[in-house]
Amino acid sequence: MKNRIALVTGGSRGIGKEIAIGLSKIGINVAITYLSNEAKALETVEEIKKNGVRGMAIKGDSSIEEDVSFIVKEVEEELGTIDILVNNAGITRDNLLIKMKTEDWDDVLNINLKGVFLCTKAVARSMMKKRYGKIINISSVVGTDGNAGQGNYAASKAGVIGFTKSMAKEFASRGIRVNAIAPGFIQTDMTDVLKDEIKEELIKNIPLGKLGSPKDISNLVNFLASVESDYITGQVIKVDGGLT
Ligand SMILES: NC(=O)c1ccc[n+]([C@@H]2O[C@H](COP(=O)([O-])OP(=O)(O)OC[C@H]3O[C@@H](n4cnc5c(N)ncnc54)[C@H](O)[C@@H]3O)[C@@H](O)[C@H]2O)c1
Repeated sequence: MKNRIALVTGGSRGIGKEIAIGLSKIGINVAITYLSNEAKALETVEEIKKNGVRGMAIKGDSSIEEDVSFIVKEVEEELGTIDILVNNAGITRDNLLIKMKTEDWDDVLNINLKGVFLCTKAVARSMMKKRYGKIINISSVVGTDGNAGQGNYAASKAGVIGFTKSMAKEFASRGIRVNAIAPGFIQTDMTDVLKDEIKEELIKNIPLGKLGSPKDISNLVNFLASVESDYITGQVIKVDGGLT
């Protein structure tokens, strides 16, 4: 994997951070994007560089087309064209439908789904030219199975799955593989906001009896980013401790 270049959106914390560090451990140069916390992003870059590869952080919102063009241009200038794109950035704005504000619907769909479209489009041309690329989209089991109180999030993550399968078919002849990972409940800032009793209830339904860790996702990203998975495209792989 030496000399390959990856872009991980939302890579300064949580699952994205672990993915970025995981990729650097197998020799991949990694760029991450962050929204506002530059200090945290730079900490992640330092950890990436400890593994003997190049790393960089670029500020930008993956749901804004101009930001995405800027991010991709910066990575290409500093590291080279992108071989591996991990669409990880995502948010939740949970509420029951009756109480859900249109703004919360729009924000979640814009960041979780439109962001994946924009970033994929921005790297597609150079991947097509090279006839090589790996695109890994972070969906969710909520996108395959639904969840009360997460109508907006479920719709966005189901959208990511439809997009993944379509792009896999569109890009296969150009050597670009497109897969999605659907995590179950993973211990990060996103799930730390859940009340303890809700977490305990959740864990009761997980056959393996615990929340997952960001490393569980990063391990699969490394496999999907590597040549070991070259015959796999258009798939949605669940990492959920048996939950679904
Ligand atoms: N934690 C879980 O249980 C879980 C389960 C299934 C799927 N996921 C998905 O995994 C991904 C990472 O989640 P996490 O748990 O690490 O969450 P997190 O909130 O810790 O991290 C999300 C990251 O995305 C970034 N981000 C948010 N909006 C952005 C935007 N518009 N542009 C660029 N970056 C933006 C944030 O700054 C943050 O770094 C998300 O797509 C999430 O939906 C998480």
